Amino acid sequence: MNMPAIKSSVFGKFKTKNQAVIKDFSNKDLIPIRHFDFKFKVEEADPKFYLNAELASAYFEALSIFLTYGEDLVIETARYHRDFLKDPILKQRVTALIGQEALHSKVHEEWNEILKEKDFPVTFYRFLAKNVFNYGFLKFPQPMKLSLMAGIEHFTAVLAEFMMKHEANFFHSQDERQRGLWMWHMLEESEHKDIAYDVYQTLSGNYALRITGFAAALITIMFLVPLGGVLIPFYRRPSNLFRLSYWKDVKRSAALLLGPKDGVYGSTVGHILDYLRPDFHPNDHDTSEYLAYYKERLLNPETGLLMPYFIKEVIPPVRAA
Ligand SMILES: [Fe+2]
Ligand SMILES: [Fe+2]
Repeated sequence: MNMPAIKSSVFGKFKTKNQAVIKDFSNKDLIPIRHFDFKFKVEEADPKFYLNAELASAYFEALSIFLTYGEDLVIETARYHRDFLKDPILKQRVTALIGQEALHSKVHEEWNEILKEKDFPVTFYRFLAKNVFNYGFLKFPQPMKLSLMAGIEHFTAVLAEFMMKHEANFFHSQDERQRGLWMWHMLEESEHKDIAYDVYQTLSGNYALRITGFAAALITIMFLVPLGGVLIPFYRRPSNLFRLSYWKDVKRSAALLLGPKDGVYGSTVGHILDYLRPDFHPNDHDTSEYLAYYKERLLNPETGLLMPYFIKEVIPPVRAA
């Protein structure tokens, strides 16, 4: 039996009803791979980039360090599963997903080198992440990795939608290069938010497995990354432990991340948990207008905020399956 036949016999047993399975991808957009060089500078790097809140910003910097490992998992998993797809447009979109994530990972690593110089525990967190991924996530069987990939992409889609709806949050800091990094990343996470899910539904569709991958992504993004974030302010400045102003920051940062009204995750719980719906699809949360707005705002050849850092964009060709 060849590999596709083995896969369909394994995956086929677990199909459940009421699932959003798209069969025709011909009306989907072709996604480009964009190259940037932000030329980050240590002297411009703002460790309180997110609304001048030390702990909330530390969460995002911890995310910057850890997410490159998640993106590498997405790349490896997408590459493996691309061979089993028949639809040429979906295949093209997977190639674009791989390319976008590869560049996110590369540019975040450039940023993480700056964080290292700003006394963030980059080397230690890389060591931890490498072990968690090499001895944990990367050892999962491929169907579970596919589910985890879809789960990770759900969380980045939620984050991207929140950030796009709260544009002003990016403009409290003078750190234009870090702003460019996050805005570019969020734009592309929203742009490719349905690809991993469509691959999962096309090749598997097993509801229980999808929720297992979601749970693994949830634990990583909502517990392990925050744990990394919580330790950063003490690592960088141990005296924070005794400073009243820092503990006030903790209260404010917690509200910025977890507050039910405007918190990054507190206000998006409904969106996060919507993934549990059997017929969920990422495009049920329509972000097309925001996407169009940000493409113009960031990428307009004359006025786009990202254009000073833009190198080129490539659209992978559509190849017959
Ligand atoms: Fe990414
Ligand atoms: Fe992504």
